[in-house]
Amino acid sequence: MKKIAIKGTGSYSPERVVPNSYFEKMIDTSDEWITTRTGIKERRMIEKGQAMSDLATLASASALQMAGFSADQLDLIVIGTSTADMLSPSCGCIVQHRLGAKKAVAFDVNAACPGFIYGLAIAQKFMQDGSYGKALVVGGEIISNRIDYQDRSTCVLFGDGAGAVVLGHSNGNDDGEILGMDIESDGDLWRLIHVPGGGSRIPASHEMIDQGLQYVKMQGNETFKHAVRTLVDSSRKIIAQQGITSDEIDWFIPHQANIRIMDAVAEKLGIPTEKVIITVHKYGNTSAASIPVALDEAVRSGQIRKGDLVLVSSFGAGLTWGAALFRY
Ligand code: ACO
Repeated sequence: MKKIAIKGTGSYSPERVVPNSYFEKMIDTSDEWITTRTGIKERRMIEKGQAMSDLATLASASALQMAGFSADQLDLIVIGTSTADMLSPSCGCIVQHRLGAKKAVAFDVNAACPGFIYGLAIAQKFMQDGSYGKALVVGGEIISNRIDYQDRSTCVLFGDGAGAVVLGHSNGNDDGEILGMDIESDGDLWRLIHVPGGGSRIPASHEMIDQGLQYVKMQGNETFKHAVRTLVDSSRKIIAQQGITSDEIDWFIPHQANIRIMDAVAEKLGIPTEKVIITVHKYGNTSAASIPVALDEAVRSGQIRKGDLVLVSSFGAGLTWGAALFRY
């Protein structure tokens, strides 16, 4: 089986910065509540008219440039997103077109926040037998137009963004390697986070819009508990599979949903705060983008260096969850 390495990372966060004070004018909330209960100070949101493929294409071009590959060398494009430009076709096909990745096969994975980790797992399987040589995996989301700005328990949490990695076969000692992957789901818990309208169950209609069914519905408290449990379980599974201890992990990138979830998970795993990459204060919860954006920023700032052992883990609507361990 061939070893798979991350050859390049990229990300794009929209330029519009939305501070907590923005919400104070609309709903009964405060910068103090949002900061202490979530760790979020601001988030990025798209300008009207921008779509998922705009963000994903920019993040992908940046990852390709770091990898030193051209788009026409790609064999596979997997986009983890639940907010594609249109219901059909996939965001993957639009990104393929925008990049000019003529020979790639492209598709989306709708796995909410762990969509990027699901994408990594799929790409790894395609590439392990050598039949696919180079892959682009993107995690991205535009949630700013899926939230109800009257629902104070959800609207303050989310932001928009996209992150990408380019994968290739590892060619040796200092080239890194994806070591372990775990992806899981529990459909019994689908009601915890869902967007009821706009699909085949409740198609778009004036009535659907009037009832606000196009917006994210979330049971925050319940989700919080499952988040901590699944992030810890999935991470522990990989740590055990690989026969390592948590001391050996150089960097931990948990899903950037809420600083209290991240702190609780790191503590349970015995990973000190200094080793946890945190971006939630400036981007909020960007769903599938959260891990690849944090990864790209940590690589570009020189925090994560060649040879570092990195653990990432995420959870989200579905419920879905998963973790990956790789040597960068
Ligand atoms: N401002 C002020 N008060 C608020 C706000 C707000 N923005 N939101 C909720 N409150 C109030 C509630 O109404 C409640 O008031 P009450 O006691 O008078 O009823 C009080 O604050 C406490 O509410 P809780 O829901 O218990 O607050 P909690 O501390 O649990 O924080 C939060 C809520 C931030 C949503 C938290 O539960 C959380 O982060 N959950 C996980 C959510 C998550 O990570 N989702 C990821 C989904 S990923 C995906 O797939 C997109």
